[in-house]
Amino acid sequence: MNKTWWKEGVVYQIYPRSFKDSNGDGIGDIRGVIEKLDYLKELGINIVWLNPVYKSPNDDNGYDISDYRDIMNEFGNMTDFEELLNEMHKRDIKLVMDLVVNHSSDEHKWFIESRQSKDNPYRDYYIWRKGKDGNAPNNWGSFFSGSVWQYDEKTDEYFLHLFSKKQPDLNWENEKVREEVYNLMKFWFDKGIDGFRMDVINLISKVPGLPDGEKGEGQLYGNGFPLTANGPRVHEYLQEMNKEVLSKYDIMTVGETPGVTPETAALYVGEDRNELNMVFQFEHMDVGTGTTKWDIRPWKLTDFKAIMSKWQEELNGKGWNSLYLNNHDQPRPVSRFGNDKEYRVESAKMLGTMLHMMQGTPYVYQGEELGMTNVSFGMEDYKDLEIINAYNELVKGGFMNEQRFMEGVHLRGRDNARTPMQWNDCANAGFTTGTPWIRVNPNYVDINVEKALKDKNSVFYYYQKLIKLRKENPIIVYGDYEEILRDSESIFSYVRTLGSEKLLVILNFYEPEVEFILPENIKYSSKELLISNYAVDEQEEIKNIKLKPYEARVYRLK
Ligand code: NOJ
Repeated sequence: MNKTWWKEGVVYQIYPRSFKDSNGDGIGDIRGVIEKLDYLKELGINIVWLNPVYKSPNDDNGYDISDYRDIMNEFGNMTDFEELLNEMHKRDIKLVMDLVVNHSSDEHKWFIESRQSKDNPYRDYYIWRKGKDGNAPNNWGSFFSGSVWQYDEKTDEYFLHLFSKKQPDLNWENEKVREEVYNLMKFWFDKGIDGFRMDVINLISKVPGLPDGEKGEGQLYGNGFPLTANGPRVHEYLQEMNKEVLSKYDIMTVGETPGVTPETAALYVGEDRNELNMVFQFEHMDVGTGTTKWDIRPWKLTDFKAIMSKWQEELNGKGWNSLYLNNHDQPRPVSRFGNDKEYRVESAKMLGTMLHMMQGTPYVYQGEELGMTNVSFGMEDYKDLEIINAYNELVKGGFMNEQRFMEGVHLRGRDNARTPMQWNDCANAGFTTGTPWIRVNPNYVDINVEKALKDKNSVFYYYQKLIKLRKENPIIVYGDYEEILRDSESIFSYVRTLGSEKLLVILNFYEPEVEFILPENIKYSSKELLISNYAVDEQEEIKNIKLKPYEARVYRLK
């Protein structure tokens, strides 16, 4: 497997709206990010993925872009951006931007033109269709509730929007659209950015004819997902993009690709495919999901481990994994997979160990390095249109009981990740001197950067160590992976191998103490403890270990 900087790096994801506000308007901004670069340097990360900072009316917090070549007013201006890039590069931190080109904002000049008339030169930049028998052109439901079709009176046609109605889908079949996208990508690469995270990039090619999707009983809309994800021309488009743009720069790419399996992911990231470097898959994020993400179901550790191991084993030698447990769309891992009360610190460290010892590039989402937790707001405090629209459709529409829905929101809602970064125990967690755009998690008094930096046992210093270990040990980056004790419903354990060296990762995933018994075929003559979340006697025999709640240990075996 080829060695590259993006395989060896660790990415830190910044959701700028919630990171640091420098001017007191309650909204995080670029100058706020600049203020905190030394903090990131101290953590040890060397790549930042910055969520969208482009001009946007903010229907979906920047994922609805009205100008791809300019900066959102709330976040600053191009001079601020250039300073950010420069300050990052000075510190040897690379900058990966978000590329949102499955759709634009309806306030983008292309769409404003497109909706003017059927013969407007921009008409075919988007996907317009006539209605069918007085209804929408097909039965697909949007990710953000309602139909994917919005009627536009002016030309008596509907436009397609897989997300909100202010996010019309671009028509990738139109080669002018593709050219516009490639040009705007070059615009940013020529400024010196180091890569793109590509928003829902596997949705850009829709099945021709846009046929109805399957509709389950009692369901409001048909399922358009299989007809839009991994569509017929997606690889052709990405290979073209690679040839026209990506191949010309030393950059990294990671595609957000809901619905991929290791098999289909390999088509995007296969080293001989000339498409992308990594994808974000969702299988592990979807454990315990019922008919919708709000419909919470029990899940077993063996299910979760099987997914993680499948990705490790099946992509090995073929493509590169991205390793993540949360982002701006996913809840806080310590609340979802750990214990955010009594064992918050231990379980946050255990989950970090699980992820950072795997093969792939780890992503740390802002606040994860503090063990930040979910929130349980009432509906009036949520800002996310996904939550608000789902509430209106499912609860008000009588499809879901309110209490069950709120449990779903508290566990899975996107705003869990979007509450402001907790810098200190002053007002608004030190995020802003104004009124924050979204409520701060009330636990900021205990969980914040200032406190973490003063406590040598904090989650922060543990993450710092995980990141340092990866830099110093090629086995963590490149070693083969093998899961052991696969049937255990309490222990997640695996071995990494590179040459004559092995790493043994032992994790107690839950609170009850449990006995770890080392399989006999794992032989070694010397062992060294690399990291652990409890104090461990280095001489302790490892053939048989009584694991404490959420205990994590990593040994180097020779
Ligand atoms: C995925 C992004 O991560 C999410 O935040 C956004 O709402 C949708 N794509 C639409 O752009």
